[in-house]
Amino acid sequence: MKREELPSSMGPVACIVGARPNFMKMAPLLRAFSAYPQLPTLLVHTGQHYDADMNDKLFADLHLPAPEINLGVGSGSHAVQTAEVMRRFEPVLDERTPSCVLVVGDVNSTLACSLVAVKKGFPIVHVEAGLRSFDRAMPEEINRVLTDQIADRLYTTERTAHGNLVREGVDPIRIRFVGNVMIDSLLAHRDSARSSESTLSACGFDPALLKQASGYGVVTLHRPSNVDQPETLGPLLSVLREVSEKLPLIFALHPRTRANIERFELSHVIHTDRMIMLPPQGYLEMLGLVSGAAVALTDSGGLQEETTALGIPCLTLRENTERMITVEQGTNTLVGRDRDAILRGINEVLQSGGKRGRVPELWDGRAAERIASDMSQWLAQRHSRVDA
Ligand code: UD1
Repeated sequence: MKREELPSSMGPVACIVGARPNFMKMAPLLRAFSAYPQLPTLLVHTGQHYDADMNDKLFADLHLPAPEINLGVGSGSHAVQTAEVMRRFEPVLDERTPSCVLVVGDVNSTLACSLVAVKKGFPIVHVEAGLRSFDRAMPEEINRVLTDQIADRLYTTERTAHGNLVREGVDPIRIRFVGNVMIDSLLAHRDSARSSESTLSACGFDPALLKQASGYGVVTLHRPSNVDQPETLGPLLSVLREVSEKLPLIFALHPRTRANIERFELSHVIHTDRMIMLPPQGYLEMLGLVSGAAVALTDSGGLQEETTALGIPCLTLRENTERMITVEQGTNTLVGRDRDAILRGINEVLQSGGKRGRVPELWDGRAAERIASDMSQWLAQRHSRVDA
């Protein structure tokens, strides 16, 4: 069906989630849309993430409704996963004729659903558009660049995203700076975050470790560039072990990382009672762990933003970031896998509390409201054009 042939009745906004970092972005959007009767929604889960602790727990914590459709694609190579989402999403568009397809972030599901939508003439809305690491070896960078090229409405979290998009030829008329929906979720749930002590106890660990004067650090690690080769994962874990001698560390282990630690026989490196390994955590548990930490060490995109919003220093275990605003204005420092830089960062935290920053413009908990308000007008205009 071509764009001009779309039916004139307004279908639902097809809201796509696939992987864990999508859930906290979609939750405030669905809440905001519910205030607009003209923006009915259809929640579609691609099934990219499927384990209970990567999925169900977060849905419950974020009060996300059960998806109306689950495509059940599961894991696979990039090609297989992307192709499977595309194959299974196409009939959804045929049957439900949504008013538009709304995608968030930069995971494979984001790009896959966007590709299906553009070829069938459905407008695409991209939330968190225009972020660039300028590192094309990152699968997410490819997903970002391509999704933005074919999106009709692009909502950005920071002002530099606008320049990135315009440089790539995106018409500025399509771009709106609205703020950060991930921070909407953080602010909405901050008061109900679970304490670090209760999270540790629930996982069978003695929370006494948290009582040390220095506090503790929280670690997440899952980027293929950090965890997929033994010659990178091994030394990185050794540095983290060194860090743990100064500051106890709590890991929330992504299944990819856990599997690779076992596969590469690296379990002995992390075998110390100063490094606590937890399974992937729920949203409220993670929020509590991060809020109570002296520092976060991470390669996650979301955590770089959350620590900046919370004012907690963050050492990002990457050479680059698509979220430079967290470095320029927030509490983030890029340290890569450089032992000296990591230890320097930790010493700074121990001596002076670490890097301080400010909360970026419009990271105020109201980004989803701005998006819903703008979308209701934008879709009404499109609708009247199709009808005319
Ligand atoms: C994906 C996203 C990444 C995001 C991350 C958050 C892409 C390209 N990557 O990476 O941007 O930061 O999610 O977690 O979309 N697995 C399970 N259970 C699950 C899901 C995955 O065990 O519920 C394991 C499987 O072995 C799978 C591996 O994790 O092969 C990787 O999962 P995948 O969805 O391909 O990528 P992530 O590394 O999670």
